[in-house]
Amino acid sequence: MSVSAWIPDGLLPRWLLVVAAMASLNGATNFFNSRASAKVYSAAGGQITPLSARLFGVWNITSAIIRAYAAYNINDKVAYELCMWSFVIALVHFVSETFVYKTAKMGPGMISPLIVASSSFTAMYLQYGSYVNKPLSWS
Ligand SMILES: *[C@@H]1O[C@H](CO)[C@@H](O)[C@H](O)[C@H]1NC(C)=O
Repeated sequence: MSVSAWIPDGLLPRWLLVVAAMASLNGATNFFNSRASAKVYSAAGGQITPLSARLFGVWNITSAIIRAYAAYNINDKVAYELCMWSFVIALVHFVSETFVYKTAKMGPGMISPLIVASSSFTAMYLQYGSYVNKPLSWS
């Protein structure tokens, strides 16, 4: 079986697969080592614990699974919308940790998750009609 058989058609599903692969690697890293989450939550200090890192890893893996399902089921309304929600959750979380709870700063560790979540959500919102043949649930 060729590698291309594993790669879904279209730019958005491929992007979601890349994001899912990165998140599962990060998820595994976070699970075993709290230094990776200390980079994202660079102002959290003592709030970074082995438990918080494992929970972040669990979220990372959960979001990876949702995004991989969406990549391979890009025309499925439920998979597509759940994936959009996963980006909304990530955005609300990262923005509130930065500006409300102040556990993170606008540094390199925070900018990339913010860019990934906001650009992916925007792309999925704009392209909804070309992948899903039904109206968006909350429009
Ligand atoms: C997964 O963890 C990494 C840090 O190890 C972080 O940069 C990335 O944004 C996380 N992914 C999600 C979806 O939260």
